[in-house]
Amino acid sequence: MCGIIGYLGNHEAAPFLVEALKRLEYRGYDSAGIATVQDGHLDRRRAVGKLVNLSDELVHAPLAGKSGIGHTRWATHGSPTAVNAHPHRVGKVAVVHNGIIENFRELRAELAEAGLVPETETDTETVAMLTAQYVAEGLSPQEAVARTLPRLEGAFALLFLFDGEDDLMIAARKGSPLAIGHGTGENYVGSDALALAPLTDRITYLEEGDWAVVTRESVTIYDAAGQIANRPVKQVTLDNARVDKAGHRHFMAKEIAEQPQVLGEALRFYLGEAGDRITLPGDGIDFTKLERLTLVACGTAYYACLTAKYWFEQIARMPVEVDVASEFRYREPPVTPGTMALFVSQSGETADTLAALRYCRDKAETVVSVVNVAESSIARESDLALPILAGTEIGVASTKAFSCQLTVLLLLAIEAGRQRGTLDADRLADLLSALRGLPSVIGRAIDDGATAEALSLQLAEAQDVLFLGRGLMYPLALEGALKMKEISYIHAEAYASGELKHGPIALIDKHVPVVVMAPRDALFDKTVSNMQEVMARGGQVLLISDHAGITAAQDGIWRSIEMPQVDPVLSPILYAIPAQLIAYHTAVAKGTDVDQPRNLAKSVTVE
Ligand code: F6R
Repeated sequence: MCGIIGYLGNHEAAPFLVEALKRLEYRGYDSAGIATVQDGHLDRRRAVGKLVNLSDELVHAPLAGKSGIGHTRWATHGSPTAVNAHPHRVGKVAVVHNGIIENFRELRAELAEAGLVPETETDTETVAMLTAQYVAEGLSPQEAVARTLPRLEGAFALLFLFDGEDDLMIAARKGSPLAIGHGTGENYVGSDALALAPLTDRITYLEEGDWAVVTRESVTIYDAAGQIANRPVKQVTLDNARVDKAGHRHFMAKEIAEQPQVLGEALRFYLGEAGDRITLPGDGIDFTKLERLTLVACGTAYYACLTAKYWFEQIARMPVEVDVASEFRYREPPVTPGTMALFVSQSGETADTLAALRYCRDKAETVVSVVNVAESSIARESDLALPILAGTEIGVASTKAFSCQLTVLLLLAIEAGRQRGTLDADRLADLLSALRGLPSVIGRAIDDGATAEALSLQLAEAQDVLFLGRGLMYPLALEGALKMKEISYIHAEAYASGELKHGPIALIDKHVPVVVMAPRDALFDKTVSNMQEVMARGGQVLLISDHAGITAAQDGIWRSIEMPQVDPVLSPILYAIPAQLIAYHTAVAKGTDVDQPRNLAKSVTVE
């Protein structure tokens, strides 16, 4: 969602703020803005659209000052206009915000009675109005914020700057993440540690309800009750490489190409150098004690969970329930004591997934997460956090995080099968051996990406694309359709192959490409029958299969992409590659903004 940065130092703030906002732009790119205090004078600059527009604005109208706050916006309340861009300023107060103030209408009505009229359509401005009113009544900035915070309902990370205060920022967190960075004679605030990467690796994470008074020489943190809270300073290993495309045209291309390497690292972490047994961090998981699994996530991470359902059921014979977090949390399902609740999230900050985790906290036997960002809220609030080790993912469309999520989930299912005695030693050895070979097989699939690129010119002409898959390929078909929609803006739907004739087949005509994902496994012949039904109605089939599958099914198909042969259990991880490449090249052919597609943001910290 929105990204927040604050700088209180000995250098000009504006260049630092803009540089840090570049690292936060993945959180939103509807508008950007900064405010600084120079000799006690508060001023701001804002611009609609990408950060580059703010940079241009700052060339024409520079902003001096050694303290400042900045924001990159993903619009929730109010359209993405300059007037709605953060920082919002009222009287002596400027504020940037990530989250939603749910009671802003009530607060506005109250402020209106005092004759205060908002200038923007945003919920955030109400925070500035309220705080400014308290300051105008004679409260100090600290007292004014302390009075404002308990009045706000919803989720927020807030950062305040004050006219007349060259050495003060106040930060507050409830529901949305916020980190304080410690420097020498300088201090910083950011939505995540990565935003602060070039500035410091000494980080304090604010806890729920915390707020912090920050000066150049001090950071004082208060809890929700107003008591001074001692929060640890952590040494965080920061990924300075994140804004580098390493010669690729897009971050997404770089991240697709990185998959052999990051999968290799994840496998080494869980399998060790010998690669012959799975070791989970901490005390691990006792699967023999568990009766069922509940898997919860959003978007691509949800499709990773759907795939894992097949694995846990088939390999470990465990009952599995899967749900999207936004439905799960409001359904309030019974969670029985023998349940392991498992949450999958790249960012570890997705608001719905975090809320679902909190719902399960006191109900489930154990709460486990599969995350990319090790210091994220979801990781920190889990009994056990399993890293996927994908490295920083910048492209809004998730690629390497998906394949790493799948890999960790498969390792978990194999470990569950081993512990529960549903997987014999030979099959276990086969699967681990196949996994060890996976990075190089994935590398071959990426190197063979030319067919996907060649096809994309025709796919880019389509209005609609269908994706079909059966068994383990069904969740992957859903993921392929999601990738296609989000970056190429082509309408794409996915169906379980067997469902086609129950309705969706009506959509088929010669203008609709149908992507069929079907390795030559036990279900292949069934899928081929469904493919014939499509072709009989003029549908253009793009078959993604292995050599044996393509040879067996060749008659009448429009195009094919040949994949290396793998153990069928691993096929979702391998077949993720053509799904990503098709979407990527189609988006490039259409000329869309691949890394920052319209209306989206990478980290969804609002409901
Ligand atoms: C799609 C995509 C999203 C995310 C979803 C969950 O390419 O990236 O669907 O998967 O927003 O995000 P995380 O995994 O951060 O919880």
